[in-house]
Amino acid sequence: MLEKGQEIVVLRDVLIPGGRVADITISNGQVMHTGAAGKGDLEISCREKFVLPAGTDLHVHMRDGPQKAKETWESGTKSAIAGGVTVVVDQPNTIPPLTTSDLIRDRVMLAESQAYTRFAINGGVTSDADLIGMWRAGIFAFGETFAGPSSYGEAVSSSVLRYTMEQVAGWDGLMTIHAEQVTEGPDRTLADHDHLRSVSGEVRAIQDVLTMNTHGCNLHFCHLSSADAIRAIPGGGASREVTPHHLFLSYELFDPEDAQGKVNPPLRSEKVRRELFSCWDQIDIIGSDHAPHTRAEKGKEFEHAPSGIPGVETMIPLLMGRVLEKKVSIADVIAKTSFRPSEILGITKAGFSPGDRADFAIYPDTLTRISADNLHSAAGWSPYEGMTAVFPEKTILGGTVVFDSGEFFKPDLSEDYSGIRLWIQGRGYSL
Ligand code: DOR
Repeated sequence: MLEKGQEIVVLRDVLIPGGRVADITISNGQVMHTGAAGKGDLEISCREKFVLPAGTDLHVHMRDGPQKAKETWESGTKSAIAGGVTVVVDQPNTIPPLTTSDLIRDRVMLAESQAYTRFAINGGVTSDADLIGMWRAGIFAFGETFAGPSSYGEAVSSSVLRYTMEQVAGWDGLMTIHAEQVTEGPDRTLADHDHLRSVSGEVRAIQDVLTMNTHGCNLHFCHLSSADAIRAIPGGGASREVTPHHLFLSYELFDPEDAQGKVNPPLRSEKVRRELFSCWDQIDIIGSDHAPHTRAEKGKEFEHAPSGIPGVETMIPLLMGRVLEKKVSIADVIAKTSFRPSEILGITKAGFSPGDRADFAIYPDTLTRISADNLHSAAGWSPYEGMTAVFPEKTILGGTVVFDSGEFFKPDLSEDYSGIRLWIQGRGYSL
């Protein structure tokens, strides 16, 4: 077992993307040196391993409170670090929804008492949300803003959307958008769900938001489910997030009435899924939209089952599986799960160069089969059951080992993890 608190940590023989093999010396939560290293207080051999800067997941629903049965901050963040993710951004469609500064402060305190990862909190957008209060209380972004309704999220009106974009643009803040248009009709199968929340509706919702954004608010589009949606967003105009479930699952993989595949936006046909994958280069970030619901809830009749899929723990492992199969490059996985989301979040990137944040995950070079029995979310099920993936053996946060071969070590709040507390405050934060 590895102990925390060592002064100098050396990762030995790290294969850095590009081909160089070097030691990485870590101290005070940062990379100090990349190259031949002296002796460390703790040495970790990385020979024949993949060492990745740890993931930053801009889209998770940590639930807790009255929704503890679905997830708690403890179970959700353990799930994250067991999947190589050390930074999560929590969404505000909790019960009650996060729409005031007091609720944001309570959420931060709750997270601080339990989290195994760094975290940021988003603020909810509703007709009566205290936007400036939440901004000053330290939220990262406004959203996910429901431009279409979803589980525990009501759609906001165009006037609220317009007003919020104008306000947020004035503070140079960020809005994250859930773009969907929903048609009424029977919702009894995964194919129905796809039809009612269609690709064309997703594209129209994106176009409407872009047209309404007359004040140039910074926008981030969540969980884009189709190539058409990706193409509807001009390059550089807004950031584009895609989930692992839209990349790896199609509704044909499930029984038609199996609500484990029910999610918003819906899983698409295999054809649409493949087209989405072919847009890989235009995807800015992969975000899990980790949306845990219990197995019992997902076992309800399709129409009454909640939408959402747990996925923070399987996101990078699934991608690493495709790296081993040479379908995607490791450099792209690092860019889309770590560098770019950290840049959007405005924190020092985790990486291999001096000064970088020393958050890493170390992976073996072997595939395993996903089994919910081995995952840590309170949800207790996975739509990826039986699919191949590569899970990290160790996860390191600010130079401290927080996960090692199935064992967890809680980060200490009194420590400064490379100048970033566990809570990552937004730019509007003022005491
Ligand atoms: O399917 C979904 N579930 N999509 C969302 O946007 C929200 C999420 C949830 O919170 O369960």
